[in-house]
Amino acid sequence: MYLKHSVIGMASLALCFSSCQTTPEVTSPDGNIKVMFHRDADRMTYAVNVDGRELLLPSALGVVSPQFAISSGAEMSLSFDSCDETWEQPWGENKLIVNKYNEMAVTLTDSAAVMTIRFRVFDDGMAFRYEWNASGCDTMTVTDELTEFAFATNGTSWSIPGNFETYELDYRVLPIGDVTDANTPFTFKTETGVYGSIHEAALYDYPEMVLRRNDAGTLKADLAPLPDGVKAYVPGRFTTPWRTVQIGKKAVDLINSALILNLNEPSKISDTSWIKPQKYIGIWWGMHLGTQTWVMGPRHGATTDNAIKYIDFAAANNIQGVLFEGWNEGWENWGGNQHFDYIKAYADFVIDSIARYAQTKHIELWMHNETGGNIPEYEAAMDSAFAYYASLGVHTLKTGYAGGFKGGYFHHSQYGVQHYQRVVETAAKYKLMVDAHEPIKETGIRRTWPNMMTREGARGMEWNAWSAGNTATYLCTLPFVRLLSGPMDYTPGIFDIDYSRAKADKGRLEWNGPNGDCCIKTTLPRQIANWVIIYSPLQMAADQIENYYGHPAFRFFRDFNADCDMSVALQGEIGQYIVVARRAADRWYLGAGTDSEGRTVNQPLDFLEPGVTYEATVYADDIEASDPKGVIISTSRVTSTDTIEIKMLPAGGQAITFIPVNE
Ligand code: NOJ
Ligand code: CA
Repeated sequence: MYLKHSVIGMASLALCFSSCQTTPEVTSPDGNIKVMFHRDADRMTYAVNVDGRELLLPSALGVVSPQFAISSGAEMSLSFDSCDETWEQPWGENKLIVNKYNEMAVTLTDSAAVMTIRFRVFDDGMAFRYEWNASGCDTMTVTDELTEFAFATNGTSWSIPGNFETYELDYRVLPIGDVTDANTPFTFKTETGVYGSIHEAALYDYPEMVLRRNDAGTLKADLAPLPDGVKAYVPGRFTTPWRTVQIGKKAVDLINSALILNLNEPSKISDTSWIKPQKYIGIWWGMHLGTQTWVMGPRHGATTDNAIKYIDFAAANNIQGVLFEGWNEGWENWGGNQHFDYIKAYADFVIDSIARYAQTKHIELWMHNETGGNIPEYEAAMDSAFAYYASLGVHTLKTGYAGGFKGGYFHHSQYGVQHYQRVVETAAKYKLMVDAHEPIKETGIRRTWPNMMTREGARGMEWNAWSAGNTATYLCTLPFVRLLSGPMDYTPGIFDIDYSRAKADKGRLEWNGPNGDCCIKTTLPRQIANWVIIYSPLQMAADQIENYYGHPAFRFFRDFNADCDMSVALQGEIGQYIVVARRAADRWYLGAGTDSEGRTVNQPLDFLEPGVTYEATVYADDIEASDPKGVIISTSRVTSTDTIEIKMLPAGGQAITFIPVNE
């Protein structure tokens, strides 16, 4: 391979001088994680030790391009740096973030090119990226990336299969050594008890990285190709995304880590006052059940009457936004030639008066743009469409890409990554927050573009309407895999968990999954707990509002605040159970969930503010009746010195609000 291609990093089999055999290293601030760089005549590698034991054996580094090479004789220089800062974000699981690392930059200088491999080692993991400058080369063709992750021991892994088109796949639990391909985050627990997750940070202008086992039996970066087989066309001066490995002693350490965000640049949006977390409802679930339609007709969901009903319900229930899908013309083409009109509303959705009405009620109107994957058409339309939405006072946009991209491009290729980014930046110009469905993976760019609020990128609630659905085990895996990358618009909170009657009423039972599968595969309290467990700054109560009318448990959502200040994953095991608490202003919210096993966990309340008495309102499974539809609501007074017992049915959960009694 070295002779066929040039390799940025190590290329020709030039003589190796003694200087190229050094093994510089850098350790985390707490000294527990050590990263070692090495080069010899054939290749460059890095290796990672945790607590004195090998986690990753020497693993290849480098990028392949026909345009230029850095030879093994290139001069090597090292520089070291460190950082210990606390920065603040306008919204997030935690508004204050500690960024503490030691850095080692290995720079290789050849006659026509310079490349730096920058390593950062944090107490909660490590990362590296390639930065190169090929003088006189305007466009470089990247044909491969050599990065490997060579595990020193076997262990268990949780991941979805490698796929360049979709992340809406179920998790597999596999021995690390049996994984042939996987998307990231790729979460693992080694036989030596180290928890970790491989992912990437700051993905711009470059394809996504999938892991694929190579002929030598090592997991290696596989970049999503363009239609011509090239992975990326980049400028001669370029910086790749970070390759990241989060590391923890407990499973929840991975959730409590801000490593991905820390590897992104500070915000490029200076005035963020228009960017606001919010709760929302929407005309949405009915279409997935098949009881309503996106297309105009007798069962059309997005009608003016329904819009007014939803806006009124939001205003009465401390909900800030309302989403309408199927408001614009073009849905009749979905699945066919995919021509959507992003401005023209259906005749029974009188958009100007709806927008005016929403403003009088202080409710945010959400626009929805399903593109069906027709990128050229969407890119041509988006500037004027976004300007129009801004003129209506709209600040939130949900996008969708349900359909193959035209021209043979993969969703996750460099073409896709560039497109999703163009949408974020164009939206920022018009003060629009983005919620992307069928997105590119989250890599922490929300730090730099804080209008990139949330995204799908996993099997969300919709899968429960028309497929075998998402199991409680899936829901206990999600926080430790997909959610490590960032917020998800899962759209939780279906109260009518046995919706077969709703479908039968409308003659839509054929919309059930294979084998007539029906309905939500958790208890009702678990649906409530998911509002806390699955973090999203735009958090939806996804059911049709009729199912919330007068329901005592809907009080949880009314009391809930999506504008979180602080979060802590308290306890859990991957695929088994999870307990998370979040604080917004002086209130705390707790969500707990279990897999298919009933479970009782004890939870100390030491996260609460010491000395404050809280009224705890508990939304618990009906253990006695063993009824998934039941919810037992109780209140008590608690302080930070108390410990509570959380009892959950199989596929169950519990949610709690803690409100200071003097509030
Ligand atoms: C898939 C999205 O995930 C879903 O939320 C949306 O309703 C449909 N596409 C239609 O755009
Ligand atoms: Ca989807």
